[in-house]
Amino acid sequence: MSTRTTLITGIGSLVTNDPGHGTGPLGLLTDAAVVLDGGTVAWVGPAAQAPAADEHFDAEGRALLPGFVDSHAHLVFAGDRTAEFNARMSGQAYSAGGIRTTVAATRAASDAELDANLARFVREALRQGTTTIECKSGYGLTVEDEARALRIAARHTPETTYLGAHIVAPEYAEDPAGYVDLVTGEMLDACAPHARWVDVFCEKGAFDGDQARAVLTAGIARGLTPRVHANQLSYGPGVQLAVELGAASADHCTHLTDEDVAALAGSGTVATLLPGAEFSTRAEYPSGRRLLDAGAVVALSTDCNPGSSFTSSMAFCIAVAVREMGMTPDEAVWAATAGGAHALRRGDVGTVAVGSRADLLLLDAPSHVHLAYRPGVPLTAAVWRAGVREV
Ligand code: NIG
Ligand code: FE
Repeated sequence: MSTRTTLITGIGSLVTNDPGHGTGPLGLLTDAAVVLDGGTVAWVGPAAQAPAADEHFDAEGRALLPGFVDSHAHLVFAGDRTAEFNARMSGQAYSAGGIRTTVAATRAASDAELDANLARFVREALRQGTTTIECKSGYGLTVEDEARALRIAARHTPETTYLGAHIVAPEYAEDPAGYVDLVTGEMLDACAPHARWVDVFCEKGAFDGDQARAVLTAGIARGLTPRVHANQLSYGPGVQLAVELGAASADHCTHLTDEDVAALAGSGTVATLLPGAEFSTRAEYPSGRRLLDAGAVVALSTDCNPGSSFTSSMAFCIAVAVREMGMTPDEAVWAATAGGAHALRRGDVGTVAVGSRADLLLLDAPSHVHLAYRPGVPLTAAVWRAGVREV
């Protein structure tokens, strides 16, 4: 079956994330062209050598890059937490307990409401260039509510994560061990068919190292791959556990010892940084520089959720990472595209290379550097997802 091909010319600056294709780790090409064949990238190179195609799009000198890969988001929920944010900005501290407010609202919502809410956020992210998005459960905390969260999430993304161990469900406040039994037993049975990943919030006020290990190993035994909310609010065992269990990523990484950094650097576990959370909880940012200098692979993601980070903007995360976390614009853009792909163990996204999925973001700017240089400015000119022009 033949598909229609599209030739994009006039690309002033192209981020391929394929060092074989251009200069530096971003594999930068100037005056480039790309050919899409259906949902796939079929050709990448200098505009002067571009082959013919069925359709033609002129990028008019603007920058093209892989669509963002947001590898950490919590999008199945109802309600919001404006009042909590407002109180925090007046001096109150953030704690894991706020999650309970969203759990109550989510349980009370209908399937249709949750689905519509999620669709709205996926669309909102897409409009800003995010073409791959991960989505966690974790605001249901009963067998039925967690399973329905994942069923709904799976309608919108293949990157679904079972986070029954977000906090101890309110019904089990006096029996956390009983809740871990539920999460590793009946709840896992109901959720595993709809999930690719298993996650746990390893933190004071959520789950300790032993509980987190129990949750992750049970998930692994059911064929799920681990990722961990680790070292967000305090130092702790999360990062070491993630590395030991071969997790795809350790997420947050805000409070790291030198041993934690070394463990990440010597592992296949990506350090996923979520600056929206530190921004919205007025906390200290993690150091991207320290992790990169040690040799760790770093991803940037939004952590989009109604409590600690209510942003779907990867561009915002890039700008903060550059301004506050010691990352260069090139490193931050790589982390938000190829880094996210590594964190999701996806070889088909996060690059613009022959055979990769045709997920592309065209900026209203001549260079990807503008994502950090022009903070807060909407720069999306066009978005293709699997070859389909969506924006
Ligand atoms: O990643 N840390 C745990 N979970 C979320 C917060 C969720 C919430 O506050 O509702 C996070 O920041
Ligand atoms: Fe999170």
